[in-house]
Amino acid sequence: MAVTPPRFHRLAVRDVARETAQAVSIAFDVPPALADDYAFAPGQYLTLRTTLDGEEVRRSYSICAGLDDGELRVAVKQVDQGAFSTWVNTTLQAGDTIEVMTPTGRFGLGASSPAGGVYVAFAAGSGITPVLSILKTLLRREPSSQVFLFYGNRTSHDILFNEDLTDLKDRHLERLSVLHVLSREEQDLPILNGRLDGAKVRALLTAMVPAATIDHAFVCGPASMIDDVVATLGELGLSSDRIHVERFVSGEGGRPKRAPVAVAPDAPAAHTAVLILDGKRREVPVAAGEAIVDAAIRNGMDLPFACKGGMCATCRAKVVEGAVTMDVNYSLEPWELAAGFVLTCQSHPTTARVVVDYDQV
Ligand SMILES: Cc1cc2nc3c(=O)[nH]c(=O)nc-3n(C[C@H](O)[C@H](O)[C@H](O)COP(=O)(O)OP(=O)(O)OC[C@H]3O[C@@H](n4cnc5c(N)ncnc54)[C@H](O)[C@@H]3O)c2cc1C
Ligand code: FES
Repeated sequence: MAVTPPRFHRLAVRDVARETAQAVSIAFDVPPALADDYAFAPGQYLTLRTTLDGEEVRRSYSICAGLDDGELRVAVKQVDQGAFSTWVNTTLQAGDTIEVMTPTGRFGLGASSPAGGVYVAFAAGSGITPVLSILKTLLRREPSSQVFLFYGNRTSHDILFNEDLTDLKDRHLERLSVLHVLSREEQDLPILNGRLDGAKVRALLTAMVPAATIDHAFVCGPASMIDDVVATLGELGLSSDRIHVERFVSGEGGRPKRAPVAVAPDAPAAHTAVLILDGKRREVPVAAGEAIVDAAIRNGMDLPFACKGGMCATCRAKVVEGAVTMDVNYSLEPWELAAGFVLTCQSHPTTARVVVDYDQV
């Protein structure tokens, strides 16, 4: 099936709200003419683009608004020495404009959510942002669903959207349980002290919600927490198609440090990539060792991409002729790989010619 690939528009910032000492949330004004382009599914993210110190910087941020909140809002937690997150937390203001890519990402429920299902979510730190959007929407739109949130932070001061979560809990007392697990603040219940590691996840589920009753689990946080939670859910018998994961950081921690391979202007093309985008075909020479996205950028083509680290899948496309090999893949699922989808920021052609279609879903 063909779709419109994501694209940037310049949007005005309507509101910047301080959420914690380290994080702000930002709401955008979406002009009525672009309302359809920015319609989102809970769990999706926006990629923001600006120029810092003369260099283009693009970063992805999950939408924290629920489908019925009537706004487009993301939250940005400042990371130590983080270029973009520091700029957002210290400089960006209401009234500024910034380039915002239309929503992308497949973290969330998809079409398979059962009516009245049991959902559990494990989030840590800023990993709450897509989870909050999913929870708000579930609680509002699936009146018989049961939701458990296990949210890890260092201290209660670090809890993002604490008020929203309390408010949600008050409104859905019988359907939503929120358990804060804190690593640097003692709580009355010993089970809530520590980190969301495998042992903690096992203990919490045993006490609160037997794994056999869970329909879907959502996991978002640091890489080690994700790996622990996913492994434990698997050990407890939850099948992988019911475990939904969003990674903000690569397996190497943070964003990937790999730079594009240097290509001399007169270097011969080792491969030819035919790239189909918006129904148009364009031929791009790809040098030995070069990733398809890098070759396209080098040749002046504007392709969808964001993290360039195999995490976000903004650069996802389908190989319809020829073959590629990928360096890493933190986001495509087995069925997508089997169907020929690849992350073009990680893909190197292994045949003289490849045809890659960005318009396929
Ligand atoms: C799909 C997706 C959704 C995301 N959603 C959100 C969100 O909702 N809220 C949010 O705050 N962030 C989110 N992120 C992370 C965000 O895109 C940036 O990576 C983050 O803000 C850091 O960017 P920076 O430019 O400030 O740091 P950089 O200048 O890129 O990195 C500076 C240093 O921080 C390390 N670092 C980078 N990112 C992280 C991180 N997330 N945690 C710890 N260390 C890091 C780097 O390795 C480096 O050492 C998401 C990422 C992805 C891929
Ligand atoms: S740009 Fe994020 S996976 Fe390729």
